[in-house]
Amino acid sequence: MWAKPGHAPGDSILTLADSPALRYRCDRYIDEQNFVRVMADDVLRGLTHTPKSLAPRYFYDEAGCALFEQITQLPEYYLTRAEGELLRSLAPALMRDLKPRDIVEIGSGSSAKIRHFLDALAEQNAPVRYVPLDVNGQTAERSAYALTEAYPHLRVHAIIGDFERHLGRVPPAQGRRLAVFFGSTIGNLAPASRHDFLLQVRRLLRPGDRLLLGLDLVKDRATLEAAYNDRQGVTAEFNRNILRVINRRLGADFNPDAFAHRAFYEPSACRIEMHLVPRYPQTVSLAALKVAVGISAGESILTENSYKFTRESSVDMLRCAGMGLEAWFTDSKGRFALALAARDDASSNAR
Ligand code: AVJ
Repeated sequence: MWAKPGHAPGDSILTLADSPALRYRCDRYIDEQNFVRVMADDVLRGLTHTPKSLAPRYFYDEAGCALFEQITQLPEYYLTRAEGELLRSLAPALMRDLKPRDIVEIGSGSSAKIRHFLDALAEQNAPVRYVPLDVNGQTAERSAYALTEAYPHLRVHAIIGDFERHLGRVPPAQGRRLAVFFGSTIGNLAPASRHDFLLQVRRLLRPGDRLLLGLDLVKDRATLEAAYNDRQGVTAEFNRNILRVINRRLGADFNPDAFAHRAFYEPSACRIEMHLVPRYPQTVSLAALKVAVGISAGESILTENSYKFTRESSVDMLRCAGMGLEAWFTDSKGRFALALAARDDASSNAR
């Protein structure tokens, strides 16, 4: 807490302006109705198309978030640990160099990782605004609010929205901005959507601002495939959970147990593909959509692509979106990278 004029340092008083509630704001661009309407469209399109697919954003209801949390602790799932190791070791120097005053986190989830940066920034004793954006309102709001209690100099402006649709709602920067997108979540986007997304991200940045992007790296097939086929079967349950979400939200009657989990690396596309494979032919009715969908035995449902990157492919995708790689950090085993990027006009005065 800052000492107020007229008070000796350390003799800080709690004023109204310091109270967590007054340093917190939340704008919602997705409500329950809207979410279900968009979901109904997506699911109908995905299940009537050949091959069938479902969008990975629908994994994440309460149960799905909890299952993903469990995945991050699995011995086979190295991504979160590798990124955590990197964040811990980089945070102090990175925050000293960048001195961000405005941090936008895309897909903020439980806002756990950003604490590495906020801890490092606390020493600078400067006002910082944190702008988390996430689809899951409950988790994001609860976690973001907790940050205003933990960091007395922090203001939080949460955005409940979809990172493919609502990046334009992020408020203008108040000082030097750092946008972060952790966890290799960008790996869920196919190349064309990823490009559109990165163009939107670029618009959040002014010359001199930075983007920090978490990227899972191309590596041997066994390591990649093990991360999506854990021995405890948590990933399989996570995969099947998408059917429970659809059952509940759209009144469908999927039997999750009638589907097998299948995940494999597709080297030609540099991606893990996750599928749900029906154990026998079945018909599923979706009450909210007033349709029934037949699924034949050989027909799997693609539930997730998880693209993997190299330094070269990362430089390319950033360059195509008008950004340049400034620094490339990998964990001690070279499994995961954090790419630091800026607009390619960062050194000029052009806006
Ligand atoms: C959250 C998209 C980064 O692709 O590794 C984990 C999701 N799916 N296990 C990933 C996921 C299966 C995860 N991302």
